[in-house]
Amino acid sequence: MTLFDRPILALETSCDETAAAVVVGRKVLSNAVASQMELHAQWGGVVPEAAARAHVEALLPTIEAALRDAGVTRDKIGAVAVTNRPGLVGALSVGVTAAKALAFARKLPLIGIHHLEGHLSSVLALEDEIPFPHAALIVSGGHTELVEVRSPGEYRIVGATRDDAAGEAFDKGARVLGLGYPGGPAVQKAALSGDPRRYPLPKGLSGETLDFSFSGLKTAVLRLAEKEGSSLNVPDAAASLQYTIARVLTERAVRAVVASDFRALTLVGGVAANRALRDSLRAACEREGVAFFTPPFELCTDNAAMIGLAASFRLARGERADIDLEAMANADL
Ligand code: KG4
Ligand code: ZN
Repeated sequence: MTLFDRPILALETSCDETAAAVVVGRKVLSNAVASQMELHAQWGGVVPEAAARAHVEALLPTIEAALRDAGVTRDKIGAVAVTNRPGLVGALSVGVTAAKALAFARKLPLIGIHHLEGHLSSVLALEDEIPFPHAALIVSGGHTELVEVRSPGEYRIVGATRDDAAGEAFDKGARVLGLGYPGGPAVQKAALSGDPRRYPLPKGLSGETLDFSFSGLKTAVLRLAEKEGSSLNVPDAAASLQYTIARVLTERAVRAVVASDFRALTLVGGVAANRALRDSLRAACEREGVAFFTPPFELCTDNAAMIGLAASFRLARGERADIDLEAMANADL
């Protein structure tokens, strides 16, 4: 597989992390992230206008940090990659505008990357050679998708959520349980001392589907909290919620990989940082004789290294964006 052989400066500003990275081929030289977590925690969720403004402030220092950490000077950069779709359009525009300015000023190749292709590419940083084709489970704050990855750039979605994403199930459940924002890490922490079988919760869709539904789970947690009131055991509820989400995701992902006849599964996206989910999928894949890959934690939640990795393949194939590259709120993979 051919890869672009000069350092790529990659930018990612699609949601609430301002990120810049330097990547050469499959090697991540730096991965700088300025998190807006504290900013949005006061509102209990991402406020688009505030996110865009924070990206404007943080982007240039984050690019400087990425170059410094990589030990690469500006004149050594060979291309600029940026997430241009999908996401919050105001937030995306900050990264896209900066990437265009940098590419134009230095006469460098420019490439726009789909955010989910970034997540799918995050596993390419692993030492192990990822086999193609493989199945992938993308789980983030906005997405829950099962994807057949035939080669880098060739994707087919075979299952998706019909309502909430897995990350939303964590975030909304955490809010009901009074665990704060962002919900995933808070639920994981509370669940450490909890009993996952204490409160049985609904798993959503039944039957042979590869789709997901998490809205019933959210309602069930709400009902449980109302019913139990002050006698609710929060660690047990958090553990039950996490267990249920991990079980559903594991069941469907294994079903998808078995149905596809592929011998490998990857787990990517912010929710892939969840320890219980990683363990559950790893164990299930072992039972099925399927190879399992998931990136290190810092490449699970939003970052720019994964955008650089995706760009490595596209740039090597000669793909280039024009200077009129645009930010797009919605876009298919
Ligand atoms: O991929 P990501 O950083 O942003 C999006 O593209 O949406 O994913 C963010 C989501 C949030 O819902 C957050 O609660 C969840 O990932 N998350 C986790 C964990 N860390 C982040 N969910 C469960 N366990 C975690 N440890
Ligand atoms: Zn993401």
